Amino acid sequence: MKNIVLIGFMGAGKTTVGEVLSQKLGRIFVDCDTLIEKRMGQTIAEIFAQKGEDFFRKLERECIEEICQREDQVIACGGGAVLDPQNVERLKRSGLIFLLSLPLSGLEERLALDQDRPLLQEKERGKRIKELWEEREKKYLTAADQVVEVKNMSAEEIADLIIRNYRKLVKEVEL
Ligand code: S3P
Repeated sequence: MKNIVLIGFMGAGKTTVGEVLSQKLGRIFVDCDTLIEKRMGQTIAEIFAQKGEDFFRKLERECIEEICQREDQVIACGGGAVLDPQNVERLKRSGLIFLLSLPLSGLEERLALDQDRPLLQEKERGKRIKELWEEREKKYLTAADQVVEVKNMSAEEIADLIIRNYRKLVKEVEL
């Protein structure tokens, strides 16, 4: 069956929700960033620092191309995956895309203490988050088959909602 693809801004909860979904559905969970880290033997932060963002985006593109050749998975993409239209096209073909959406204030709160994300290393973090969010919001919305507002919801509740909606959408696609 079609993959369940999670997209959304950093801090929206893609990895956590993806893990819960995969347990509930007995499906394999593929986290694109984790796969890249395993293959490279480096963290995402190290890859950005040593080889730069363009190199990371190339790895991300290759990783998505490969993942999309398989079915029955839950896939969590990095927050910037939607920047490349080819990624979006591949993900759309292989699955149904759910956007985990949080208001800007919620994202800022969750990302305030983050140490690891290479795109948030500047001093004015709030400003940077806002800039990236404004740049990307439309791309997320265009890519998504369904938007899930995750504010005040637990990972468990979000996963249940996605499963219900996934089943409905799959039926519609099959009809
Ligand atoms: C990125 C998000 C990160 C990771 C990389 C770039 C982005 O993933 O892929 O740091 O461009 O938004 P998460 O969304 O899982 O943090």
